[in-house]
Amino acid sequence: MSDLYAVIGNPIGHTKSPLIHGLFAEETRQDLSYTAIEGPQEPQGAFAETVRAFIANGGKGMNVTAPFKLQAFAMADERSERAELAGAVNAMKFEGGRIIAENFDGIGLVRDIEVNLGFPMAGKRVLMLGAGGAARGALLPFLAAGPQEMVIVNRDVEKAKALAARIEGRGPLLACAYGDLEAMGRFDLVVNATSASLTGELPSVPPSVFSPEGAAYELAYGKRLTPFLRLARNAGVRIIADGVGMLVEQAAEAFDWWRGVRPETRTAIDRLTVPLD
Ligand code: ATR
Repeated sequence: MSDLYAVIGNPIGHTKSPLIHGLFAEETRQDLSYTAIEGPQEPQGAFAETVRAFIANGGKGMNVTAPFKLQAFAMADERSERAELAGAVNAMKFEGGRIIAENFDGIGLVRDIEVNLGFPMAGKRVLMLGAGGAARGALLPFLAAGPQEMVIVNRDVEKAKALAARIEGRGPLLACAYGDLEAMGRFDLVVNATSASLTGELPSVPPSVFSPEGAAYELAYGKRLTPFLRLARNAGVRIIADGVGMLVEQAAEAFDWWRGVRPETRTAIDRLTVPLD
């Protein structure tokens, strides 16, 4: 029997994970089955039961998407430092009766920016909008890439400050309010890690933060030119991208973690890319 993997979320109909992992399995000739499971939102504990039933059936690993990333975190026996800091889990491995948990979102994002977009972060000024789960997941991998300076900005500035305080000493990180940005000059890379684009909103970021020679990255994907990316384009930013590459790269990290072989990602990215305008 093929090894069993799945993505769990609710809703799950829109998920691209089975397609991505199917392409990876074909390319690397791995014998596995990867399905999508709609997890139960209630009653309490039903999510964990579904995961345990999957393990009992021989499941080897799972990807976790909204709204279960926190519940997956809570039920894990072991968590990576990245998952600890994000407070959220997007991949699990089941081994010897234990649930080992990871968060590859941030590492996938860094890989997409550095490898696929050809934009190394070392020595760059980086601005991250938002201090929610998505931003938290990205912070350690971003700092590991060696930026000259990294600024996180959030409407609720205390949340950004608390986050910066949690990883003090790990890199040149500063938290501030949107109102401070005008005075902070240009950034080489601006990443929108807020959930504003999901509702068509624009974080109140001034166009002066963008640098024409730089890059702007929107974590949401498949939304075409969001208000954030439009602002960046109008400011003349050279590289603009949405999160489709991050989605595929985090999947590749999980695949490698589970199977010990790294798939190529270009085919899946090309299949899933939606033109920005
Ligand atoms: P996620 O896990 O997707 O990051 P989250 O944890 O709910 O979601 O966090 C949402 C983030 O988007 C927060 O940083 C939020 O800012 P506040 O903490 O100040 O609320 C940010 N956000 C949502 N809508 C926004 C908007 N219209 N403008 C700016 N930031 C916004």
